[in-house]
Amino acid sequence: MTNIDSRTRHLAVNAAFLKDIKDDNHDLKAIVDQIAPLSEHYQTAINHWPELVGLLEQLCDQLALHFSLEEAYGYFDDAVNHAPQLSVNAECLRGQHPSLFKTIRGLADKVLEVNTDNIEHVQKFLNGYQSFQQQFAAHEEAELKLILDAMDDDLGVGD
Ligand SMILES: [Fe+2]
Repeated sequence: MTNIDSRTRHLAVNAAFLKDIKDDNHDLKAIVDQIAPLSEHYQTAINHWPELVGLLEQLCDQLALHFSLEEAYGYFDDAVNHAPQLSVNAECLRGQHPSLFKTIRGLADKVLEVNTDNIEHVQKFLNGYQSFQQQFAAHEEAELKLILDAMDDDLGVGD
């Protein structure tokens, strides 16, 4: 029923949507890049605490948009439809969004309560952020791999 041409064309359109999403995510990368140098050392963080508070709130908003765009565009569904063997991986990645968002929301709330006179409290908070950042980076990398695998499958690469 489905010929190769229509499947390939459909996937190409989806890849264009994906590029739009990733382009829109420049804001997200900019925020993460601004937080990185502030969160590496407790003294830098303390010196820039109000800025850090604002950036974490921005990150929260941006991630809400980021996850909803990914889910609304439905590239997970597309990956599943075109490569059913990838569905378990796709479901797993989609399932990470709520917990990732819960973590960053918690950090954006907690940053307001940290006693910046207490280095241990500051360091504990920064460790929490760095842990989140690593989880999020791994999630993004896994999504990109899923999409590339789906494209390879659809185009018959590796068969
Ligand atoms: Fe995601």
